[in-house]
Amino acid sequence: MSDPKIPAHVAIIMDGNGRWAKKRGLPRTAGHKKGAEVVEQILEDADHMGIRYLTVYAFSTENWLRPAMEVKALMNLLRTYMISSMEKCAKNNVSVRVIGDRSKLSADLQESIGNLEEATKNNTGMHFQIAINYGGRDEIVRAVKKLVAKARAGEITEEDVTEALIADCLDTAGLPDPDLLIRTCGEQRISNFLIWEGAYTEYYFTDTAWPDFTKEELQKAVDAFGNRERRYGGLTGGQS
Ligand code: IPE
Ligand code: IPE
Ligand code: MG
Repeated sequence: MSDPKIPAHVAIIMDGNGRWAKKRGLPRTAGHKKGAEVVEQILEDADHMGIRYLTVYAFSTENWLRPAMEVKALMNLLRTYMISSMEKCAKNNVSVRVIGDRSKLSADLQESIGNLEEATKNNTGMHFQIAINYGGRDEIVRAVKKLVAKARAGEITEEDVTEALIADCLDTAGLPDPDLLIRTCGEQRISNFLIWEGAYTEYYFTDTAWPDFTKEELQKAVDAFGNRERRYGGLTGGQS
């Protein structure tokens, strides 16, 4: 059996790229570039630590509000990642899935996402999810639309609507809920990330900005998780 002290699924709100860059007198985009390098390292570190699922928040449905130049730089980084990580994922046996509404992304980015998912889908190692144009509320809206279509087609009735059916219509269908969610750079909020899936997730906040995040920081979060008592609304261990 897997060690309950090691979270099977870790989700990360990678925040603070802009502040990291500003502190160094660099453009915000320099922070995003360094942040993208850190993702690659943390993916490997998480794998070595026995984490089976890693989900990172790369671009939210609200991040379109940023200046066009910053959005463009972020999309370019994602574009590069989809292509450059192909070989590494094959070597490390990692499967990649993108969550979020990809229909709003450029056609070429959608294509390279599809290619990376397809090329890695049979890999049996770590599962790596990247949230792009992802919003928890938007994910639920899209799930409800799928259910309405099913009902219209006569495939389901009111009685069929359960938590499991809703979960099956989310982008995260088939994934276990996150056990641990880490947010970097001091903010203590969820910013529309995995709001359905995070119902019983343990949260961990650190002041470290994402570009400075390291394996040691990840280990600290995992250690803190190991000391938490998860009750899921029940009673403490041993009581009944
Ligand atoms: C996280 O860093 C990356 C994205 C949201 C795309 P930010 O860009 O939010 O950095 P801060 O929060 O402004 O420092
Ligand atoms: C959350 O960070 C989104 C990502 C990390 C991609 P934001 O920087 O967008 O969140 P807020 O605006 O501080 O809530
Ligand atoms: Mg931020």
